[in-house]
Amino acid sequence: MKDFVYSYPTKVYFGQGAAKKAMTAELGKVGKTVMFAYGGGSVKRSGVFDELCGMLREAGKEVVEFSGIMPNPTYKKVQEGAALAKDKGVDFILAVGGGSVIDCCKIIAAQAVTEEDIWNMEFAERRYPNRFLPMGAVITASGTGAEMNNGAVITNEETRQKAGVLGAYADFAVLDPAYTMSLPQKQVISGAFDTLSHCMETYFGSPRQLNLSDEIGEAVMRNVIRNIRVLLKDSGDREARSELMWASAMGENGILKIGKVTDFQAHQIEHQLGAYTDCNHGQGLAVIHPVLYRHMYRDGVEQFARFARNVWEISKEGKSQEELAAAGVQALADFVKEIGMPTTFSEMGITDKSVLKAVADSCNLTAGCCRKFSREEILEILEECW
Ligand code: NZQ
Ligand code: ZN
Repeated sequence: MKDFVYSYPTKVYFGQGAAKKAMTAELGKVGKTVMFAYGGGSVKRSGVFDELCGMLREAGKEVVEFSGIMPNPTYKKVQEGAALAKDKGVDFILAVGGGSVIDCCKIIAAQAVTEEDIWNMEFAERRYPNRFLPMGAVITASGTGAEMNNGAVITNEETRQKAGVLGAYADFAVLDPAYTMSLPQKQVISGAFDTLSHCMETYFGSPRQLNLSDEIGEAVMRNVIRNIRVLLKDSGDREARSELMWASAMGENGILKIGKVTDFQAHQIEHQLGAYTDCNHGQGLAVIHPVLYRHMYRDGVEQFARFARNVWEISKEGKSQEELAAAGVQALADFVKEIGMPTTFSEMGITDKSVLKAVADSCNLTAGCCRKFSREEILEILEECW
């Protein structure tokens, strides 16, 4: 095994009444002025906003509202939040929403305590912030696992990049499946596919011989597949949503990544597609993964064959390793169709084919990927996704 150090800074409160437990235990540790950050208003419609504000007021906090964090949050929105936090003397950020809200707040937490430009610091100078406003995360849409890491995916509209920016870890995360019940089924499935993607992107990184992290990863993948199927029959199944909520956190809490260099090539392509089209993250991944893996599996036959056997439960009987590996990729493609996710970019509503070249030219090529892709082959993959 590769050497590692493991510790985790985010305390998780999971299950019914988790918000109340978290607020009771945590709010005494933070200052008086709390920024309540959220998205386009689902938290107001669901009642989560009033419930949490009540808890904040009960704890004697002053609430500063920061609303309108959009899916695929922009760097401009980060700056707006940081300016508000500075202006109001915010002591603590409560981020309430899905991955977009949590990510935006991770960088607000960094930008609010410095005059330096965080984007410039990280991408031009390769320095990373180490001072942050403290923050907590309340999840209303699971899948990204954003509550369990300090990476934020932010769109810089000026540079046309959707990139991973390092920011604050949430000090605590509230994972109450009840808060996800108002999320439309389409977004639930899209989030769950994102979780599956995080597991696959870790699994197909290196090394690719049998190890504990991958065996745990196989279990998480089977769990996600099973619970998506449960939700297809009954979108209100609370147990399935609970399982998916914890699986989402498991994908990004570092456990599956121990001893591995992750792949995340599909994510790198999807992020740039997002930069050019503002598309839905999980949907973009659903289209890209099967096509990318058809180009990749011969370079990682053993691991793809293991994926076929242990995740999709495909018999090896009568198949060569390569045929088994290909069958695993086909099972993934079939699953995308089965769960009603798009299989082409045009189905996602992307109309401008000329963005594909820009995406191929600007996406990162990852070190953990089993195939060393050229820009030409990435473009070929993108064209096959059309
Ligand atoms: O904005 P509101 O009104 O809240 O509506 C949101 C949004 O329109 C809605 N929603 C959230 N909770 C709801 C709800 N609607 C009804 N009831 C609820 N309970 O859902 C829509 C999508 O929300 P968003 O936060 O954008 O979705 P998701 O959680 O999938 O996050 C996507 C973002 O996370 C990034 C993606 O790239 C994308 O920008 N990712 C972050 C990662 C990380 N930090 O580790 C990893 C991922 O790979 C991903 O890249
Ligand atoms: Zn993702």
